[in-house]
Amino acid sequence: MKNPVRIAVTGAAGQIGYALLFRLAAGDFLGPDQPVRLQLLEVTPALKALQGVVMELADCAFTTLADVSTSDQAESAFKDADFAFLVGAKPRGPGMERSDLLLGNAEIFRVQGRALDEHAARGVRVIVVGNPANTNALITSRNAPGINPRQITAMTRLDHNRAVALLAARANAGAADVRRVCIWGNHSTTQYPDLHHATVSGRPALQQVDAAWYKDEYIPRVAKRGAEVIAARGASSAASAANAALEHMRDWVNGTRSGDWTSMGIPSDGSYGIPEGLVYSFPVTCHGGNYTPVAGLDVNAFSRERMDATRRELEEERDAVKQMFAG
Ligand code: NAD
Ligand code: LMR
Repeated sequence: MKNPVRIAVTGAAGQIGYALLFRLAAGDFLGPDQPVRLQLLEVTPALKALQGVVMELADCAFTTLADVSTSDQAESAFKDADFAFLVGAKPRGPGMERSDLLLGNAEIFRVQGRALDEHAARGVRVIVVGNPANTNALITSRNAPGINPRQITAMTRLDHNRAVALLAARANAGAADVRRVCIWGNHSTTQYPDLHHATVSGRPALQQVDAAWYKDEYIPRVAKRGAEVIAARGASSAASAANAALEHMRDWVNGTRSGDWTSMGIPSDGSYGIPEGLVYSFPVTCHGGNYTPVAGLDVNAFSRERMDATRRELEEERDAVKQMFAG
């Protein structure tokens, strides 16, 4: 067995937390030979419920779970953390947009950015799940000047997985047959699920589905899937979100499969005309523990218009929370 790694999870007593912790503890993230220490953060009133979750973790007798700690102090939960899953934040309810959460959740990420800066391992890899995820990741990063901004990412993997699943179903194929789907931009209804580079069973996806379905049904369905789940469940997606968070981090560490890519919200390096530093979802490949945005893709007028619309929304969100940035 290797030395344990430290994984911080915020919002650990929440719905996503409940779906995520058991998979992290079971070795689904880093494998059966890598013990993990879970460092769980919650608000004070939720600590009692969190103790119940800790009891259940113990009752699983996971061989990969080295230790669990709980705290209502970010300093303590982030101490020497190698990975941080920033889940804790308010979810939206029916009829709300994720951007309605912006000002209410922003303070959480300002405080946690500072705590990561002061207490986490310098190589910490961070995924922000709490909504609105892209701009919360930006706030986190702008309060953690000692951490490379590339290490602080936002989750668009759930959108990516939704895009793969919906395309596979339409093309009568399996998810494993689908490659090179990507999500551009914001984890919001302006996101752009792009099929222009995608293949199904090795053939161009857009030759296997009709253009009207792609434009009028597929794009809005993927972009509004979160609301569709809320309308059915009365609560936002939890198990699929936990799964996506785990896959985002696992691919970052272990690599994307050969011939494929994934989507991650990352600080733009200026490519595709997206302003440097904006946390925007790009297609990325992961290799050797690093991610690289896919370069040189053709962007037609249809794509350009959508990539710019979601970019403009992210710029507006950034401008609305500027006062939360340190310095
Ligand atoms: P939830 O309400 O069930 O759980 C959130 C938990 O966070 C609660 O237990 C709450 O006490 C805790 N919390 C609140 N403030 C905190 C703080 N400052 N520090 C630590 N913990 C804190 O919500 P959920 O369903 O688990 O969703 C969590 C977030 O994830 C929401 O913002 C939701 O919109 C978002 N989400 C994002 C995606 C995505 O694709 N990016 C997908 C699903 C959900
Ligand atoms: C999702 O996409 O399911 C989450 O972001 C929850 C939501 O508010 O839609």
